[in-house]
Amino acid sequence: MISIQMVDLKQQYLRLKPEIDAAVQHVLDSTAFIQGAPVYEFEEQLAQYTGSKYVISCGNGTDALLAALMAIGVGAGDEVITVPFTFVATVETIAFLGAKPVFVDVCADHFNMDVSQLEKAITPKTKAIIPVHLYGQSADIEPILNIANKHNISIIEDACQALGTVYTFSDGTKKKAGTMGSIGCTSFFPSKNLGCYGDGGALMTDNDALAEKLRAICRHGSKERYHHQYIGLNSRLDTLQAAILQVKLQHLDEFIAARQRTADFYTTALSEVKGLHLPQNAHYSTHTYHQFTIKLDDNRRDTIRKYLSDKQIPTAVYYPIPAHLQAAYQYLNYHEGDFPVSEQLCKEVLSLPIHTEMTCEQLQFITETFVNCPL
Ligand SMILES: Cc1ncc(COP(=O)(O)O)c(C=O)c1O
Repeated sequence: MISIQMVDLKQQYLRLKPEIDAAVQHVLDSTAFIQGAPVYEFEEQLAQYTGSKYVISCGNGTDALLAALMAIGVGAGDEVITVPFTFVATVETIAFLGAKPVFVDVCADHFNMDVSQLEKAITPKTKAIIPVHLYGQSADIEPILNIANKHNISIIEDACQALGTVYTFSDGTKKKAGTMGSIGCTSFFPSKNLGCYGDGGALMTDNDALAEKLRAICRHGSKERYHHQYIGLNSRLDTLQAAILQVKLQHLDEFIAARQRTADFYTTALSEVKGLHLPQNAHYSTHTYHQFTIKLDDNRRDTIRKYLSDKQIPTAVYYPIPAHLQAAYQYLNYHEGDFPVSEQLCKEVLSLPIHTEMTCEQLQFITETFVNCPL
């Protein structure tokens, strides 16, 4: 029986074991577990990789979003626009600060913010827009930036699923996801394209003052020890995680290429399956395939999922319920039908196994099983 996992962290670790073990041992020997040299080295290396002027590491992607909102002063009475078809952290951090999450639906083909609906969601209370680069593909950031600039609103990019993704502007300029708005946020959750061995996250910005403020916010609001200029957080990337990320960052482009090869295999092998919609590549973005997410017509998603599961093929649904219909957000008074594309996607999407260690044998088994599914 072929063993298949959504993400195979074990095989990847075994492949990188000598490098990872040496990096971890080095930190253990130094005992500099908090704010050791690898934290700052990694920040610089990630800045170089992304092209961001500053990278500030933090405890996780959720904290990155929270710190970003805090840095631009989001609080009670403010509105922040985002999408309902995302991981809850995007919405949770807005609500946590007492601001109101205002939703704009997504496009059915690329799963990201439907820019044509953005401007009508803006009010005098709108303080920020958080486009989410879902599954590894950038939202169409250029028109979002144009609208935001017109209304003097900050953009915070949720690039938690899209580190390494490249967006091409209409003049041909290319920029990496997370480096195009005022602040970009990313996550190093183990299953992410660049994942550590626990929680981790980072903020990116080109703005000197914001960088200084973000760094302070993540350190209890302090620039100088025991002097607290802002209400802050305790949100730091552990030295052990930074050392692991230093190793893995050197492999990130190779990881992305492996995911893209897997996506190509799926695309070719599943192109003839009736009622199956493959992920669409937006002309303005590369796809780093944090997820390979298909859509299935006619309420067949759950039946097919069960069929694959019976053959030991794992799949996942990201996400089964849009944010505006989650129990915690009923106080916002949204209803079923308010964001029909997001609601429909929650019924249709199915993510197939994709990671850096997938073999041809595994891919053949998955795709042959899928093609032979009696539906
Ligand atoms: C789109 C999105 N935003 C935010 C987060 C939060 O990141 P973390 O789990 O590191 O807090 C995630 C992680 O799953 C995510 O996928």
